[in-house]
Amino acid sequence: AMDSGVARYPIQNWDRYHHELQARIGIDQKLMNRVLTQARNNPKTVVFAEADNYKILKAAETVLEQKLAYPVLLGERARIQELIEEFNLELEGAKIIDPREEEAKCEKYAHLLYEKRKRKGLTLFDSRKLVRVRNYFGCMMVETGEADALISGLTRDYSSTIKPALQVIGVEEGLNKVAGMYIIQNKKEPYFFADTTVNLMPTAEELVDIIGLTARYVKFFDREPRIAVLSYSNFGSSSGQIPTKTREATRLAKQRYPDLLIDGEMQANTALNTDLLREHYPFSELANQGANTLIFPSLAAGNIAYKLLQEMGGAETIGPVLMGMRKPVHILQLGSSVREIINMVAIAVVDAQTCRAKQ
Ligand code: ACO
Repeated sequence: AMDSGVARYPIQNWDRYHHELQARIGIDQKLMNRVLTQARNNPKTVVFAEADNYKILKAAETVLEQKLAYPVLLGERARIQELIEEFNLELEGAKIIDPREEEAKCEKYAHLLYEKRKRKGLTLFDSRKLVRVRNYFGCMMVETGEADALISGLTRDYSSTIKPALQVIGVEEGLNKVAGMYIIQNKKEPYFFADTTVNLMPTAEELVDIIGLTARYVKFFDREPRIAVLSYSNFGSSSGQIPTKTREATRLAKQRYPDLLIDGEMQANTALNTDLLREHYPFSELANQGANTLIFPSLAAGNIAYKLLQEMGGAETIGPVLMGMRKPVHILQLGSSVREIINMVAIAVVDAQTCRAKQ
C-alpha cells in the first residue's frame, strides 16, 4: 500500500501523501479499536476449534492478555500443551478441552444433534461419531450456552467448516440465509463487501435478504450503509441474466427497505466514483456520496474481488464476518494471520454481546 502510494505522489506532494496515509491508518484503527474496546468491556467465552495450531494459540495468548475474551482451546490436550511449551506461550488462564476426554458431554451432544437431525437422515450411531469432531463439538458448546462464540476454519476449507455450524446452530429466526461480509479499508473509509463467502448464485430475492443483512452489519460497525448492487452493466445498459437479476434485486430492496440508501444495478467503478455518477447518472441516489457497501451478483464475483484487493491493492481487510447465524460462529479464511484471528475474536465477542442483548 505504501509503495503504490509513494508512486502516485511526486516528492513535493509528500505532505499530502503522508496526510492520506495517516488518515487511512486512523480510520483503520477507529473501526477496529471500537470493536476491541467494546469486546474488552464485556468479554465472552470463545471456543477455538483448532487449538492444536500455533497461530491460534498465539492469538489466544493475546486475547487473554488483552482481556478480549475467555479462550477455550479445543483439541488433543498433549499436542496443545506441547505447542504451548515449544513456543513459550502464556496460556494459563485458558481452558483446554479435549473432546476425547469428555464422554458424558459427547453423549449429551450426540442426543441433542440426533434430535435436530433425525429427520434429515442422521442416525444416533453417526451422531455419536460426529460430535467427536471438533467443529461439531465446538458448535454444540455454543448451542448449549457453554460457550458464547466459536472461531474455526484456519486449517480447513470454508464449506466443511460452515456445514456443522449450519446444521447445529443454523440461521437466525426470521432470516432465510446466512452470508459473509468482508471489510476493505481503503483510502478514506471502510468498504463493505457481500456476499464474499457463502451463497454461490443468489437469486434476486436472496440478494434482497443479503442486502438487509449486510446493512445491519454495516451499522454494527457504526457506519451508515450506502449500498450499490453490482453488475457489469449500468442502469440497464446491458442485457443478460446478471443485469436482470441485480436490477430486480435493487427494485425489490428499495421496496423492502425504504429507509436504506440503495441503488443499482451498476458497475463497480460507477459505485465508487462520484464524478462518474454525477456526470452520467445524476438521478442516482448514490450520486452525492457514492457507495460504501457493495453487493455482488455471485459468490465468484465477491470472493474474487476481495481476494484481488487483499493481494494486489494493499488494502487492509477484516473478515470474513459471518452474518445471520443464530449464535456467533465465525469462520476464518484458510491461513489467516494472528492479527486477523484476534480481530475476528473481538468481532465474535461483540456479536455475542449483541446476541445476548437481543434475547
Ligand atoms: N444460509 C443458511 N442456511 C444454509 C445456507 C445459507 N446460505 N446454505 C445451506 N444452508 C443450510 C441447508 O439448508 C442445510 O440445512 P438442513 O440440512 O437443515 O436442511 C444445511 O445448511 C446444510 O446444507 P448442506 O446441504 O449440507 O450444504 P449445501 O450443499 O447447501 O452447502 C454451503 C452449503 C457449504 C454453504 C455451500 O453453499 C458452499 O459450499 N458455499 C461456498 C463456500 C465457499 O466455498 N466459499 C468460498 C471460500 S470462503 C473464503 O474464501 C474465506
